[in-house]
Amino acid sequence: MLASSVGMTWVASRVVMDLRANMFDKILTLPTSDFDQTSAGVLLSKVTYDVSRVMAAATETLLILVRDTLSIIGLLAWMFYLNWMLSLIVFTIMPITIVVVGVVSKRLRRMNTSMQDAMGDITRVLEEAIGGHKLIKVFGGQPYEQKRFQVASNQVRRFEVKTKVTSGLSVFIVQLLTACSLGVIIYIAAQQSAADNITVGGFVSLFTAMGLLFSPIKRLTQVNDKLQQGLAAAQSVFNLIDKASEVDNTNGHLIKTQQLSGKLTFKQVNFNYDATPALRDISLTIMPGETIAFVGASGSGKSTLANLIPHFYTINQGQLFLDDININELPLATLRANIALVSQEVVLFNDSVAANIAYGAMADAPREKIIEATESAYAMEFIQQMPNGLDTSIGERGVKLSGGQRQRLAIARALLKNAPILIFDEATSALDTQSEYQVQQSLDKLKQGRTTIIIAHRLSTIAKADRIVVMEKGRIVEIGQHAELIEKQGSYAKLYQLQEG
Ligand SMILES: Nc1ncnc2c1ncn2[C@@H]1O[C@H](COP(=O)(O)OP(=O)(O)OP(=O)(O)O)[C@@H](O)[C@H]1O
Ligand SMILES: [Mg+2]
Repeated sequence: MLASSVGMTWVASRVVMDLRANMFDKILTLPTSDFDQTSAGVLLSKVTYDVSRVMAAATETLLILVRDTLSIIGLLAWMFYLNWMLSLIVFTIMPITIVVVGVVSKRLRRMNTSMQDAMGDITRVLEEAIGGHKLIKVFGGQPYEQKRFQVASNQVRRFEVKTKVTSGLSVFIVQLLTACSLGVIIYIAAQQSAADNITVGGFVSLFTAMGLLFSPIKRLTQVNDKLQQGLAAAQSVFNLIDKASEVDNTNGHLIKTQQLSGKLTFKQVNFNYDATPALRDISLTIMPGETIAFVGASGSGKSTLANLIPHFYTINQGQLFLDDININELPLATLRANIALVSQEVVLFNDSVAANIAYGAMADAPREKIIEATESAYAMEFIQQMPNGLDTSIGERGVKLSGGQRQRLAIARALLKNAPILIFDEATSALDTQSEYQVQQSLDKLKQGRTTIIIAHRLSTIAKADRIVVMEKGRIVEIGQHAELIEKQGSYAKLYQLQEG
């Protein structure tokens, strides 16, 4: 018994590990639009909670399922052998039991699916509360969050009780049916023995077989609860694993090592996330080495346009070419190897400063290169003041750093990557003059010799651009140099006036 349960656990834990690995691999390759639709908490609960339910079902029910089904079959066969007439009774009772169990199973599965969703809600609320703890404190959001959490966990509790009631009822009904049929069998057997159709030995044997039949049937109906839980969880797990990954044209132009020049051509590009268009009829050629700035009101589509270049989203209409190759024909790895990104929200990992700069494919970068990039990003100065310099851990999401410091780290990362295309989506948060100057200086270093796309909110960043593109409601409305656009007295001039006061 011990050996078999340890063996089961060993197998099940390996299966769970493989499932988790598969889920994680899938999460790493999901299209960006899937992340827009699914909250992190829900994915989290799939990988932690749902998988563990599959394991629980596998270890706790599989053995019972196999062993008890076999014993029931064996016992029934023995009973038929003893007295075939009794088989008729069993055959009338059996379909009823199967129907009852089937209906109950469906219901249990549905309730378990809802329970998983409720569990997802719990992790989502948790994740939001933990991430937003400062906001909650300042805006007095504790009661609201408590309420949300209470609702979510109450939901789980309700489903747990409901499931128990349903499975309890089904166990009861099946036991009742079994007991009734056994009663009828005993009655008939007694009648027959009175009529001398059955021997005393046969009667005792039959009676014992019936007694033995009772507990496997009971156990089987009892584990149905767990089994349905496992099946519902497995469905959720495989739904994730079976999701489509990003479309990747891995057989496309294989320019793996050769770097591209960084020329970008938008040809009548239209894009929408949902019903409303986010980009309309964008046609633009960005020359290699050019620094181009995108300006425009919030929500005018600047970040959206930048998101199309690394193929985070697929263009609905029109084409985007990198060095005259349609980006849809490039393997994602090739395309992305040629792009360095400093995004609007700097993402840092819970690791050392050096590991954050030499992230991913750059993990093997020599120390001197990392130092060089860090110095060019004007980040060395504050890093040196940290207790272990480059090897200091920067904490969860880089919370131990200031906004400007984070941005300079992101710039150092982009510098180290040394890609022909740089996308710099400037954070809206205003830096102080000192940090702004430093970020500006590091950006100037970064721009050299590569196509640079700057989404700018500060005029200091824009002034040095070769061209400025003004966007409005997803369209390009003006293109030109700072002086030209000012002279034109159009949208840019208005924006400029607003900022300069
Ligand atoms: N992931 C998304 N899903 C659906 N709609 C989105 C998504 N991201 C942006 N949008 C919508 O697309 C439009 C353009 O947004 P975008 O982020 O490109 O603006 P932006 O010009 O970068 O603004 P900001 O200056 O505030 O950063 C907005 O109307 C926005 O609501
Ligand atoms: Mg933006």
